[in-house]
Amino acid sequence: MKSISQAIFALSILCLVSWCFGEEEFDVSPMEKTEQEALYSAIQGFAGNWWNGSDLYPDPCGWTPIQGVSCDLFDGLWYVTALNIGPVHDNSLGCARNVKFRPQLFELKHLRTLSFFNCFVSSGRYPITIPSKNWEKLAGSLESLEFRSNPGLIGKIPTTFGLLNKLQSLVLLDNGLTGELPTNFGSLINLKRLMLAGNRFTGQIPNSFGGLSELLIFDLSRNSLSVSLPLTIGSLHALLKLDLSNNLLEGNLPAEFSNLKNLTLLDLRNNKFSGGLTLSLQEMYSLEELVLSNNPIGGNLISLKWKNLQRLVILDLSNMGLTGEIPESISGIEEVEIFGSQ
Ligand SMILES: *[C@@H]1O[C@H](CO)[C@@H](O)[C@H](O)[C@H]1NC(C)=O
Ligand SMILES: *[C@@H]1O[C@H](CO)[C@@H](O)[C@H](O)[C@H]1NC(C)=O
Repeated sequence: MKSISQAIFALSILCLVSWCFGEEEFDVSPMEKTEQEALYSAIQGFAGNWWNGSDLYPDPCGWTPIQGVSCDLFDGLWYVTALNIGPVHDNSLGCARNVKFRPQLFELKHLRTLSFFNCFVSSGRYPITIPSKNWEKLAGSLESLEFRSNPGLIGKIPTTFGLLNKLQSLVLLDNGLTGELPTNFGSLINLKRLMLAGNRFTGQIPNSFGGLSELLIFDLSRNSLSVSLPLTIGSLHALLKLDLSNNLLEGNLPAEFSNLKNLTLLDLRNNKFSGGLTLSLQEMYSLEELVLSNNPIGGNLISLKWKNLQRLVILDLSNMGLTGEIPESISGIEEVEIFGSQ
């Protein structure tokens, strides 16, 4: 009896062990060694040399997932598809003080999403510029690129971003970036969202941006952009939101605005626009929010058919040097500010 039960016990231990081993091997998500090493090295560049991926996360696409990293299967092997750096969650990948873009980042050939939040923060001692090399290696896959809240990220936008022709979303929000907007962004024809707000960009909005015919959200607010608007802005037919507020833009409101039939938000506050209210405003039938305050636009309100703008709920025309009466048709709009804060 004893020997039988011992034998069964031993057998079950054996089964358990082999089952465990079998399971473990089975469970490791197969990856190319080069892919795995590129991932570790790329992250180590941002997190610091103390971060040892092969020790901490031996199976990064399987049972030891890394917060901020997503993977997907391609022909039976796992590849990294998203890399999000910065303190979004408690256990997110943080950033070292002396952050480096390692070339291995660009070897992640199935990367669709790359984002940096609150990562390059020290503008004094360790300012960082975005490298201009290698972005073309991500052109076949990258759909979303984001640098948000990185005051220590300075210098120009690399023109090589213009090669990322699969991009649907490009967000460079609240960083310390300077210089002019690259004209070759006009060839990023799949862009649906372009947000470059809260930097120190200068110069004019390039004519070529009119090529972004799929664009839905366009936000260049809080920069130092100047000169008049390109007339090609009327080619952005799909646009839902246009925010150019808090810049140094000047000249007339273009008649081409009338092409923006789907636009719900137009915010041009705090610029230097002049030349009166263009009649084309009354053809922007989808407008819900129209904010033009703090511009020396001048002219009067009477000439526009405000009745056309059936969906308008917020209208701010304060501090624009408007003269004359307020037309009756404006009274139906929920929030109106016209002569306030002069
Ligand atoms: C990570 O640690 C292992 C041993 O624990 C070591 O062999 C390897 O070189 C380290 N890698 C890096 C990148 O520091
Ligand atoms: C405007 O919006 C409508 C309704 O959502 C949509 O069908 C149409 O395609 C849009 N127009 C453009 C140019 O995207």
